[in-house]
Amino acid sequence: MLVHPVPANATYDFASDVRTGLSRGDQKELPSKYLYDNVGSALFEVISHLPEYGLTRADERLLRRHADDIVDRIPGPVAVTELGSGSGKKTRWLLEALCRRQHTSYYPVEISRSALAMCERELRDIDSISILGFETEYLDGLLRVAAYRKPGQHLLVLFLGSTIGNFDRPAGVQFLGEVRRILDPGDSLLLGTDLEKSTAQLLAAYNDELGVTAAFNLNLLSRINRELEGNFEVSQFAHVARINQQARSIEMHLRSRRRQQVTIPAAEIEVELEENETIWTESSHKYRLPEIGDIARHAGFQCMAQWIDDEWPFAENLLVAQ
Ligand SMILES: C[S@@+](CC[C@H](N)C(=O)[O-])C[C@H]1O[C@@H](n2cnc3c(N)ncnc32)[C@H](O)[C@@H]1O
Repeated sequence: MLVHPVPANATYDFASDVRTGLSRGDQKELPSKYLYDNVGSALFEVISHLPEYGLTRADERLLRRHADDIVDRIPGPVAVTELGSGSGKKTRWLLEALCRRQHTSYYPVEISRSALAMCERELRDIDSISILGFETEYLDGLLRVAAYRKPGQHLLVLFLGSTIGNFDRPAGVQFLGEVRRILDPGDSLLLGTDLEKSTAQLLAAYNDELGVTAAFNLNLLSRINRELEGNFEVSQFAHVARINQQARSIEMHLRSRRRQQVTIPAAEIEVELEENETIWTESSHKYRLPEIGDIARHAGFQCMAQWIDDEWPFAENLLVAQ
């Protein structure tokens, strides 16, 4: 796979986002996209196998069972791009179904270099596929992919695993609207959405008993130490998973176990944390089935079909750009 490399200012963005997020007076926060360096991406792969975290298995079951039905609804010829592909494992079912119909160009867009490498290893043996990865942010990658479009070719955008849930609801609609503006009418978006479920099931999924999710969350502090010369004492922070009823989301935070001061020279910042103060690192919003059609409409799509898992509430939604 050819990989188009990361923009040269990536370290600067990380430093500047860390400075902005940790300077906040009310709720300190760090953008969830920074959870995924090579350690974070490897830990996320492990999370996807944990018994408590049924999301990835539900997504994969739907793709495996309905790949032919999904592909039959996509007009050809089509090129496929995947925003935040991760390892790309479950995408195999769709790509194999498509490649039985036509030679397929697949463009994974990933901020994590190691995830992109995993994705290539995972999918390169499929017959009749060519893979070109873009190591960049979602919309920048999608713009570049759109520039590769041949006359008459449709685009199928995959946004799986309920990654949309990492945006708050208005930002999610805005993001999908930006995706829509890059597409042509008739292009397709396959959107994975995790549906509402019991508090107990959610808390277990984001606070597994082996502590893998805790390690995934804490790794963000280690990453700041590695890349920005920070001096976080990682053992002085605890992983917290917390339901936000109003937002219909589950949040991950890092709770300071004591009052402490942290210095991050490459971000030119000193941070004071009170005992029990938290740094908010991720939200995962959960959806109700009927709201997905409304979200799609607001963003300029029409929801043409939905497939729902019967073991773990999760929906695959096929949206078509209007
Ligand atoms: C929740 S994981 C999902 C991975 C995979 N799609 C799945 O369903 O298992 C999100 C993926 O998106 C990538 N990612 C996060 N923010 C990104 C951004 N702003 N631009 C590009 N990739 C991003 C991460 O590196 C990670 O691999």
